[in-house]
Amino acid sequence: MKTPKIPENTPYSCTQRTWLGRFFASMRSHILQNTPTDSSADCRVIHILYGTQTGNSESVANDTAAVAKTQGLNPVVKSMDAVEINQLAVMEYLLIITSTYGEGEMPDNAQLLWDQVAADTAPTMQNMQFSILALGDTSHDNYCKAGIDWDNRLAKLGAQRIYDRIDCDADFEGASKNWINSVIPIIADRANDTNSATDSVETNNTDNKAKFSRKKPYLSKLLLNRLLTGKNSSKETRHYEFSLGDSGLSYEAGDVLNIIPQNCPELVADIIKAIHCAGDENELVNGELMPLTESLLNHYEIKLPSKKLIQEIANRSGDQQLNNILESKDKTKLADYLWGRDTLDLLHQIPAIAFSAAEFLALLKPLQHRAYSISSSGNTHPDSVHLTVACVRYKSHGREHKGVCSTYIADLVDDNSQVKIFFSPNKSFSVPEDDSLPIIMVGPGTGIAPFRAFLQERAFRKASGKNWLLFGDRNESTDYIYREEIETMQASGILTRLDLAFSRDQQEKIYVQDRMRENAAEMYIWLEQGGYFYVCGDASYMAKDVDKALHKLIETEGNKSAEQAIDYINHLKKEKRYVRDVY
Ligand SMILES: Cc1cc2nc3c(=O)[nH]c(=O)nc-3n(C[C@H](O)[C@H](O)[C@H](O)COP(=O)(O)OP(=O)(O)OC[C@H]3O[C@@H](n4cnc5c(N)ncnc54)[C@H](O)[C@@H]3O)c2cc1C
Ligand SMILES: NC(=O)c1ccc[n+]([C@@H]2O[C@H](COP(=O)([O-])OP(=O)(O)OC[C@H]3O[C@@H](n4cnc5c(N)ncnc54)[C@H](OP(=O)(O)O)[C@@H]3O)[C@@H](O)[C@H]2O)c1
Ligand SMILES: Cc1cc2nc3c(=O)[nH]c(=O)nc-3n(C[C@H](O)[C@H](O)[C@H](O)COP(=O)(O)O)c2cc1C
Repeated sequence: MKTPKIPENTPYSCTQRTWLGRFFASMRSHILQNTPTDSSADCRVIHILYGTQTGNSESVANDTAAVAKTQGLNPVVKSMDAVEINQLAVMEYLLIITSTYGEGEMPDNAQLLWDQVAADTAPTMQNMQFSILALGDTSHDNYCKAGIDWDNRLAKLGAQRIYDRIDCDADFEGASKNWINSVIPIIADRANDTNSATDSVETNNTDNKAKFSRKKPYLSKLLLNRLLTGKNSSKETRHYEFSLGDSGLSYEAGDVLNIIPQNCPELVADIIKAIHCAGDENELVNGELMPLTESLLNHYEIKLPSKKLIQEIANRSGDQQLNNILESKDKTKLADYLWGRDTLDLLHQIPAIAFSAAEFLALLKPLQHRAYSISSSGNTHPDSVHLTVACVRYKSHGREHKGVCSTYIADLVDDNSQVKIFFSPNKSFSVPEDDSLPIIMVGPGTGIAPFRAFLQERAFRKASGKNWLLFGDRNESTDYIYREEIETMQASGILTRLDLAFSRDQQEKIYVQDRMRENAAEMYIWLEQGGYFYVCGDASYMAKDVDKALHKLIETEGNKSAEQAIDYINHLKKEKRYVRDVY
């Protein structure tokens, strides 16, 4: 093998002072030269990559960069889809912050880079030092799987861990702070050992820290609560408008609004009775002493049972079926068992057994906010924010069950309520900057929400690009929500094409992907014209089937092999022209 020629003045690698180190440093300079903020020869440069669906990881990446700067490091923050594998391979200090989506999957913006890293052809990463922060939620199977996969794979490719991975549950702020405060000083120490100081470079991110956050939500008034579905519908989908008052808050079409709900008072009372407490027992919650009733109303998840609670109930009840399932560790069996059962249903299995307030609270998870895709454009509605929410109500185990947040807004919020809200920006899920480009929006059910916002936004911008909406729901007569608005937008010309799929109006199910198939030729033309393809709504079935239909459409209409269709779609993803907001 030829010894690589080392250019004069090539700075030394921070970790290897050998010719190999110098070679890597020169490679880094070469490969990363298109990164304006990155002086790769500078050992103070750390790359912070985020994989995100709804912005949490991006926000933690920005926090990490802020701390890194205070320690004299030069952080470069990037979305994972802005990085090529050859750039990744020469990063010396790498911090990855990624969430997990779907069922243990990468967030959309991390998928392409991950595919390359996971491939047999991935280069070695021996010159890299890294640490992973994994965001997830213990209520999902495959907890933090994306972060775990990155951690294992980078180590397998020869990279060295600077600091062990930390997995964060839904309440990620504390754990992420610990990780930042542990990993950054280690890198700062190592970098200080190896390089002289250079001027600090700017991160390439914009500080998207919201003025109001989960810890400090805005208290909003509900201005409108309107039933969208018809009287005889099998669904209850509602339109809400929340005031932004004098908050100074603004949002973009495609962003998400988070609501911190309150639990149903009747459910709280039933649970207190089931555990044989009185409700006035005072316990410390987040450093504040408060009665059990108050803590269950506002601070704990009391509908979906935590894993700890399920285990405790199995132990105390001796229930053979539940114990067998837990011992088998069969996740599907457990999910089947839990389907339709909430905390109260489980407590009813041990009617004679009492819990102390403290014992019971220790088995619960903190109450989480729920996310909703905003259905208005901030330009057309600067003073309010609209949502399109399907109420979760079902009968099971002899009781009426209610989704915590969807029924909190529908049933409990009135004119005098102050609803705790905060925004999550969703930068990649937005209308194209170029108003002349066509957009295709696939949004059955509540998936229509962001597309109502997109259409308002395109009208506001007087965008010349074509707009195609594919919407569907159960029955046309009762579930064609926003019908008047949609027809008005059709008449005005802003909605160029509309395809509807009502699944239960006939014997055979008809879904949005059937409409894609029927209109494949035209859809391919729109894509070829630089079109954007957006999907919103159910992640478990709809989004997967639409994805399959898109692959097929590109194969048939583009006359491509399955592999070529994958490349075509990867290219769309890379250009952020195939983006999803699925849940
Ligand atoms: C980025 C994002 C955007 C979203 N946008 C929207 C939106 O625009 N509109 C919208 O309506 N939702 C949206 N959601 C979903 C929303 O966040 C909530 O998950 C939804 O409103 C249910 O919350 P809940 O608190 O009412 O129900 P929860 O208390 O969380 O209960 C839901 C749970 O109840 C159980 N369940 C539900 N139905 C049944 C049944 N029939 N039988 C048995 N068990 C059942 C399931 O375990 C389910 O997980 C979005 C989610 C995300 C992540
Ligand atoms: N992961 C989640 O927790 C999750 C995901 C999505 C929605 N939800 C919740 O469920 C409630 C109702 O949701 P929604 O109004 O958005 O949708 P939805 O009522 O579940 O479905 C909307 C339409 O999509 C159809 N559909 C079902 N399977 C499909 C598939 N594989 N491909 C294409 N279309 C398909 C439905 O048909 P049929 O019903 O006739 O089959 C219906 O016509 C909301 O509370 C929402 O938050 C929860
Ligand atoms: C539809 C959906 C699927 C999810 N799937 C998982 C999962 O499989 N495993 C997990 O640990 N967390 C899962 N989560 C939780 C997210 O990883 C968590 O909310 C994270 O904070 C999101 O960060 P982000 O905003 O950076 O994407 C899921 C969340 C949603 C809404």
